[in-house]
Amino acid sequence: MNIPFNKPHFTGREKKYIIKAARNGNFSGNGSYTKKVQELFQARYGIRKALLTSSCTDALEMIALLFRIAPGDEVIMPSYTFVSSANPFILRGANLVFCDSMDDHPNMDPDRLEELITPKTKAIVVMHYGGIANDMDRIMALAQRYNLFVAEDAAHSIEATYKSRPLGSIGHLGAFSFHETKNIITGEGGMLLVNDARFCTRSEIIWEKGTNRAAFRRGEVQKYEWVDVGSSFLPSDIVGACLTAQMEQIKKIQARRVRHWNYYYEGLKTLWEQGNVQLPIIPEYASINGHLFYLITQSLQERDRLLTHLRKRNIHAVFHYQSLHNSPFYSHQQGNRPLPNAERFSETLIRLPLFYALREKEINAVINAVKDFYR
Ligand SMILES: Cc1ncc(COP(=O)(O)O)c(C=O)c1O
Repeated sequence: MNIPFNKPHFTGREKKYIIKAARNGNFSGNGSYTKKVQELFQARYGIRKALLTSSCTDALEMIALLFRIAPGDEVIMPSYTFVSSANPFILRGANLVFCDSMDDHPNMDPDRLEELITPKTKAIVVMHYGGIANDMDRIMALAQRYNLFVAEDAAHSIEATYKSRPLGSIGHLGAFSFHETKNIITGEGGMLLVNDARFCTRSEIIWEKGTNRAAFRRGEVQKYEWVDVGSSFLPSDIVGACLTAQMEQIKKIQARRVRHWNYYYEGLKTLWEQGNVQLPIIPEYASINGHLFYLITQSLQERDRLLTHLRKRNIHAVFHYQSLHNSPFYSHQQGNRPLPNAERFSETLIRLPLFYALREKEINAVINAVKDFYR
């Protein structure tokens, strides 16, 4: 048995819709599938405006433009995250201020946020690791007190909630990813989520290369012109077609992924009780979306030995983020401020295979292999 880390899942309708999009006569950006799927997201997640993008990275770049991040601004974000939480802000000249993870969770620690705020702070980027919510009420209250913007990097978080509210719909702006490793996929793809009315008009302009083309297409202006900065953030309607097919089966996809997640949890919890590993902690305000299943080992050496042990059994488990504050690109700008929790998760966290088509006997094989390692 060879168990890959991920296998993209297709619902079966993607091909039909993609061909239809191509034959529609307008399969460039902002086509009919794009419009429909954006409306679907707006309704399902209570988002004021959803704009399909070529990636979550692109959506985050739009966020940096919408927040008008300028050289010298400070942006607070977790160190334990993907580079795409950071790059869009660096590209606008911001200084990054990394926040450590919690003691028992890879998410940024809200207790450590306030001490990082200075008069130069402009925004906070929250990343909900594995679709497990950070404490958004606390973060939003802090942002309000200091007049800061909040972006949710919700790349992992589709369908997950915080106090029953969809992740991505709480910060001023948010971003989803439809990269092939995510729950809902288009190969590459993402979405900007606008929750604050102040950003609605400008988001559409930035999306369409700095022009008011979207308003022109709705007949609201006579001609379309260059009115602001922007880029080509909108993908072809083929991405919209693919996403439509995926969204039609979101409930089925989610139910199965959450079942896999719970199966891992039940199968491995004795190892946690015995003190061998730590499993994900789900705060009472969060609901899971089965995006990824992780366990935390005691040390880097143990993590590497476990990965090798699993590899020998043809099980492809992987570690996750190398914390950004000590990355080759940014460590010289961080100073010497250590972030011990982020560093620990970089060294000890393992993600187990989790994808739609995974079968129970494969999950059992993974669980048994992990248990054999600790026997
Ligand atoms: C937390 C986080 N943010 C952003 C991204 C970037 O997503 P995309 O590949 O859609 O640009 C990723 C990618 O996995 C991610 O893990």
